[in-house]
Amino acid sequence: MLSVSWKLSRQFPPLVAIPFALSLGAALPFADANDLPDIIYRDVAVIGGGASGAYAAVRIRDDFHKSVALIEKQNILGGMVDTYVDQKTGKTFDYGVQSFLNVSGATDFFARFNISIGSSSSSSSSVTEYIDFRTGSKVDFEPPSSSKQISAIAKFLEVIEPWESMLFPGYWNFPEPSDIPDDFLIPFGEFLTKHGLEDGAPIIYASTGLGVGNMSEVTTMFALQSFGWDMARGLTGKMGLFTPTSGGNQVLYDAIAKDLGDDVLYSSTVIDSRRTDFGVFLTVRNHKTNKVTLIIARRLLVAIEPTKDNVKTLDLSPVESSTLAKFTYSNEFAGLVDNPVFNESTYYFNLPSSAAPDNTLVYQEDPMVASFQYTGLENLFRVMVIGNTTTTADEAKALSQESFNTLLKSGRFITSGQEQELSWAAFATHGAMHARVTVDQVKAGFFQDLYKLQGARSTWWTGGAFSANFQTQLWKFDEGLIPKILKGL
Ligand SMILES: Cc1cc2nc3c(=O)[nH]c(=O)nc-3n(C[C@H](O)[C@H](O)[C@H](O)COP(=O)(O)OP(=O)(O)OC[C@H]3O[C@@H](n4cnc5c(N)ncnc54)[C@H](O)[C@@H]3O)c2cc1C
Ligand SMILES: *[C@@H]1O[C@H](CO)[C@@H](O)[C@H](O)[C@H]1NC(C)=O
Ligand SMILES: *[C@@H]1O[C@H](CO)[C@@H](O)[C@H](O)[C@H]1NC(C)=O
Ligand SMILES: *[C@@H]1O[C@H](CO)[C@@H](O)[C@H](O)[C@H]1NC(C)=O
Ligand SMILES: *[C@@H]1O[C@H](CO)[C@@H](O)[C@H](O)[C@H]1NC(C)=O
Ligand SMILES: *[C@@H]1O[C@H](CO)[C@@H](O)[C@H](O)[C@H]1NC(C)=O
Repeated sequence: MLSVSWKLSRQFPPLVAIPFALSLGAALPFADANDLPDIIYRDVAVIGGGASGAYAAVRIRDDFHKSVALIEKQNILGGMVDTYVDQKTGKTFDYGVQSFLNVSGATDFFARFNISIGSSSSSSSSVTEYIDFRTGSKVDFEPPSSSKQISAIAKFLEVIEPWESMLFPGYWNFPEPSDIPDDFLIPFGEFLTKHGLEDGAPIIYASTGLGVGNMSEVTTMFALQSFGWDMARGLTGKMGLFTPTSGGNQVLYDAIAKDLGDDVLYSSTVIDSRRTDFGVFLTVRNHKTNKVTLIIARRLLVAIEPTKDNVKTLDLSPVESSTLAKFTYSNEFAGLVDNPVFNESTYYFNLPSSAAPDNTLVYQEDPMVASFQYTGLENLFRVMVIGNTTTTADEAKALSQESFNTLLKSGRFITSGQEQELSWAAFATHGAMHARVTVDQVKAGFFQDLYKLQGARSTWWTGGAFSANFQTQLWKFDEGLIPKILKGL
C-alpha cells in the first residue's frame, strides 16, 4: 500500500515533491501496487543513528518541534557504543565507547532519559606487559611514573589551550592558511619533543591517541583531534568522565530508540537520492524486508563518516566528491575473545621492541592489534585493532588470530602452545575514523572548502570528520549546527 504520512511543521511544496519522488520510485522494479514505496515527509532527514545523528534527531524533534526521520543501517542505535551483556549473570562490559566527557550540557542529556550516571572508575588492577606482538618478545619498556605523565599532560594543555577554538567544536574558525600555527602541521612526535612533553605520550597513546596508528608520525592537528583539550582536562581532573551507573553505555541509545520510535528506519540505507536547494528526496531500503521508503525532507543531516562508500548514493556534486575524497581514515575494530590461556591480571600491550628501555615516542605501524585486556567477565578479553584505510573486518580478525598465536607460541600466556582458534564472543566494526588530510591539503584551504559544503543543497554534515572523535563533543558540535539547519523552517 502507498501510505503518505504528513509530519511537516510547514507545508512542503507537494506539487514539486510527489512527481519527483515517484520518478525516483519509477526506477525501482515494483511488481504491483502493493510493492509501492511508502512516502514520508519530514522537516529533517538524518542519516546515521550514532552519537551525532541520534542526539541531533532527539533535539530537533523533541525540543525544536520539527519532524525527523532517522536512517540507521544497523538494527539498533548507538554506533560505536558496544555493550556486551553476559547472558549468565546479566553483567555488562563496554567494549566500544568507555565513558563520556562531561562537556557542558552532556549530563542533561542523560537526565532527560532518567539515566543515572556516576564518575567512570577505571579501577583496573592489572599489570601492563609490553610485548612486540609481531615477534612475541617482551619489551622492557618502563614508562614514566603516572605523576610524571599527568604533569606532562597539564603542561600539554597549557601549550595547546590558545588554539582550542580553531578545532572545537568544529572547523568553523579554522585559520586561513597563513595563520595556521606551525605546530599544527608538524609530526606529533616532533611536537611533543619540541615542547618537552615526551612523558605524556604513553597516556595519550594508550587512552585514545592510538586510534591514529603510529601517533608520532601523524600530523599534530589530527593527533589533537584524537586526544586534545577535553581529554587533557579529563586526565588532569579538570573535567569529569562519567558512565551510566548500570546497564552499560548502550542504555542511553536504547532510551533514544524508545523515544524516537517509528521515526527511526532501522536496517536501512539510502540507495538513491536527489538533493536540491529546496529539499532532498531519499530512496531508502530496509535490507531485511526490502521495503522501500521515499523520504522527502526539507533538510538533510549526514551523520556518518563521509567515506566513498557511505556517500556514493548521496547524489554528490563534483565539488562535494572531490573534497570528501581527500580524507583518509583509520579503521577501528573491537571485540571480545574467549580463551582461558590469558592471565586475567595482565594487560597485554603492543609496542615495538625499539621502545625499550624508555622511548615513549615509538609505536607500531597500523594495521595492528593494540592490546588484549581483561574484561572482568569469565575468560573474556577485549581486543582492539587499529587498521589502515583498507583494513576489513576479516583482516582485523585474522590479525588478532595471528597476534594471539604469536604470543601463545612465545610463552606470553599462562600456558604456551601451538596455534589455537580464537572464539569471538563479540566483534564490532567501528569502521572509518580519524579523518585526516595531508599537510599540503590543509595549507591549500581544505577545511575552508569542507565547510563550504555545510548547508549547500539543503545538506548539513556532522560526525567525526566534521568535528571531533568523542561522543559528547559531537553533541556540542550538533548544538551549534542545529540552529543553522533549522533556519527558515
Ligand atoms: C573502540 C572505541 C572506543 C571509543 N571510546 C570512546 C569513549 O570512551 N568516549 C567517547 O566520547 N568517544 C569514544 N569513541 C569515539 C566515539 O564513539 C565516536 O567519536 C563517535 O561514535 C562518532 O560519532 P558519529 O556520530 O560520527 O559516528 P557513530 O557513532 O559511529 O555513528 C554512525 C552511525 O551511522 C550508522 N551508519 C554508518 N553508515 C551508514 C549508512 N551508510 N547508512 C545509514 N547508517 C549508517 C552506523 O551504524 C552508526 O550507528 C570510541 C570509539 C571507538 C572506536
Ligand atoms: C523521567 O521521570 C519523570 C519523573 O518520574 C517522568 O515524568 C518522565 O516521564 C521520565 N522520563 C522518561 C524518558 O522516562
Ligand atoms: C559535570 O559537570 C558539571 C558542571 O561542571 C558538574 O556540576 C557535575 O557534577 C559534573 N558531573 C560529573 C558526573 O562529572
Ligand atoms: C599473572 O600476571 C600477574 C601480574 O603480572 C603475575 O603476578 C602472575 O604471576 C601471573 N600468573 C600466571 C599464572 O602467570
Ligand atoms: C613510527 O613513526 C616514527 C616517526 O616517524 C618512526 O621513527 C617509527 O619507526 C615508526 N614506527 C614503526 C613501527 O614504523
Ligand atoms: C594496509 O595494510 C595492509 C597490510 O599490511 C597492506 O597490504 C596495505 O597496502 C595497506 N594499505 C594502505 C592503504 O596503506
